[in-house]
Amino acid sequence: MALALLAEHVRPLDKAHDRQSFDCGHPGLNRYLREQARQDAEKRVAAPFAFTQPGSPAVLGFYTLSAAIIPVQELPPDLMKRLPRYGQLPVTLLGRLAVDRSVGGQGVGEFLLVDALRRSLEAAQQIAAMAVIVDAKDERAERFYRHFDFQPFQRTPLRLFLPMAQVAQLFA
Ligand SMILES: CC(C)(COP(=O)(O)OP(=O)(O)OC[C@H]1O[C@@H](n2cnc3c(N)ncnc32)[C@H](O)[C@@H]1OP(=O)(O)O)[C@@H](O)C(=O)NCCC(=O)NCCS
Repeated sequence: MALALLAEHVRPLDKAHDRQSFDCGHPGLNRYLREQARQDAEKRVAAPFAFTQPGSPAVLGFYTLSAAIIPVQELPPDLMKRLPRYGQLPVTLLGRLAVDRSVGGQGVGEFLLVDALRRSLEAAQQIAAMAVIVDAKDERAERFYRHFDFQPFQRTPLRLFLPMAQVAQLFA
């Protein structure tokens, strides 16, 4: 059956979600969803959002968002030149993003990434963030983000960013 990829099927992770069967093929991320994500939400260190289908509580994908700061020197020189010299800059961290293997390759990863970017842009209209940054777990994940125009930081290539101005263009 075709998946319904609608924003209303992504909501903050809560007790009603079934996290036990989730398997993205990455044990650390599976464990994070099962054991840590709700605690992070309660302690307000990350906001986890879960994707489900109507009639089933099973989590089929999730992502987390947090506020973060980056040293300005991490940015590529051409971008750095156009920014005020504040030393540190506010960003939104897309800490984790994963899709259950049962629905892999069907556009859920892209759908969740776009949902996370839309949410980050909306939040940045109230509390500024000049980019969305991600920490790719490995080179495969890095390729996923580069596929969507994220650029690597100078010193930490598995950490990537997408300027919020570019995110805004996506939704203009
Ligand atoms: C990476 C992941 C989120 C992709 O999810 P998915 O639902 O299978 O991906 P989609 O079907 O939405 O793919 C969307 C596009 O990205 C591309 N893509 C998917 N994975 C990719 C990868 N590793 N490298 C490059 N491109 C990739 C697809 O080819 C597709 O491109 P197209 O639209 O041009 O055809 C998923 O495989 C996953 O959860 N992996 C384990 C956890 C992980 O690595 N998370 C990311 C870092 S924390």
